Amino acid sequence: MIEKLVRKEVKSLPSGFWYKEPPKHRIILDSGENVISVTSNVRKSIKASVDNINRYPDPTQSKLKKALAEYNKCKFENIVVTNGSDEAIELLAKTFLNKNDKIITLTPSFPTYKNAALLMGAKVIEIKLNNDFSFPVEKLISSIDRKVKIIFIANPNNPTGNLLVNERNIKSILKKFSGLLVLDECYYELCKKTFLYLIKDYKNLVILRSMSKTYSLAGLRIGYIIANKDVVSWLKRVSDTLQPFRVNAIAQAAALKSLESEATIQKFLKTKRKFYSKLKEIKGIKVYPSETTFFLIELKTKNSLYMKKMLEKYGISIKDCSAFGLEPRYILKDTRLSDIPKTSKSSESSVFGYIRIGVPAEKDMLYVINILKKILHYKYKNKL
Ligand SMILES: Cc1ncc(COP(=O)(O)O)c(C=O)c1O
Repeated sequence: MIEKLVRKEVKSLPSGFWYKEPPKHRIILDSGENVISVTSNVRKSIKASVDNINRYPDPTQSKLKKALAEYNKCKFENIVVTNGSDEAIELLAKTFLNKNDKIITLTPSFPTYKNAALLMGAKVIEIKLNNDFSFPVEKLISSIDRKVKIIFIANPNNPTGNLLVNERNIKSILKKFSGLLVLDECYYELCKKTFLYLIKDYKNLVILRSMSKTYSLAGLRIGYIIANKDVVSWLKRVSDTLQPFRVNAIAQAAALKSLESEATIQKFLKTKRKFYSKLKEIKGIKVYPSETTFFLIELKTKNSLYMKKMLEKYGISIKDCSAFGLEPRYILKDTRLSDIPKTSKSSESSVFGYIRIGVPAEKDMLYVINILKKILHYKYKNKL
């Protein structure tokens, strides 16, 4: 009965997406979080903000926006602060997409672009990345038609971890396209690659940023949009009228303080480099270089579902990338069937799926590496 009341667009969203219950693993590496916690100064600012928790938060986020404008060398009126960049994507979809408009996204990539568009009744054109996960610029440009309103590109990309676009690509898309080109730079502080400087020349270029990963504020939900002031004023028409107080006071205070220091970012990069060098030593996998908070691993001897289940047994959670459309060739219902059936191809050239793994804390790193080795090199006849 209730189902009849639900909008058709809501029914088009995937059910049971991502998490079904709160994470219970000891070592959580499935969400690409920063394992380094915030500095003591950020903690102090959080504690101080609790004193005013009886009041609504500043609906203009003025202190934070001023600091973000300074940090990004842009103007106050170019910024919209959101509850994580997830909300920024939803806000763009709500503000600009009519039913039957189209968006272009890449695959594999971050699925919220597609889901936000589906919610609005828009159609989704998914362009496959090249086999080496590079950017198929010509294919994307040839898919643009009058109905395409937004193109979403994660740069760097999730789950592949690589930078997709360069200035030439962006300019050639914008030459043909007058809808919104959204560049999701949610990992900016790790790769230091941005096309923000192009927003003064292109009114339809939109940049997304997040403080979740790089500034270790995932639990407080702070993201922001930088764009031309006309784009910003329409976004604000939606957000200010529906949810004027949506960015909470504690998050605003913590984000403001976090901008004062890149300590967590530098510590994270050091841990990440160490983890990468250890991952590269493991046989039976290919580890892709990463500009993000996680690594994409190509499996050559085990499949992704098997790896996920086995790692879970050891208290480690990772992402099975079939959720991103990076399908394993064999789905194993029974984890005892660990070894890949023999194929005519050599195991070196075969790919049996992909997993995405976050960077563990230094104290857990050896354990994670040893468990990965143990599972990858495990033969069915030996008991684990
Ligand atoms: C490319 C990309 N964009 C956006 C997000 C959402 O981040 P948040 O909502 O925490 O800012 C993620 C998270 O994994 C991501 O990988």
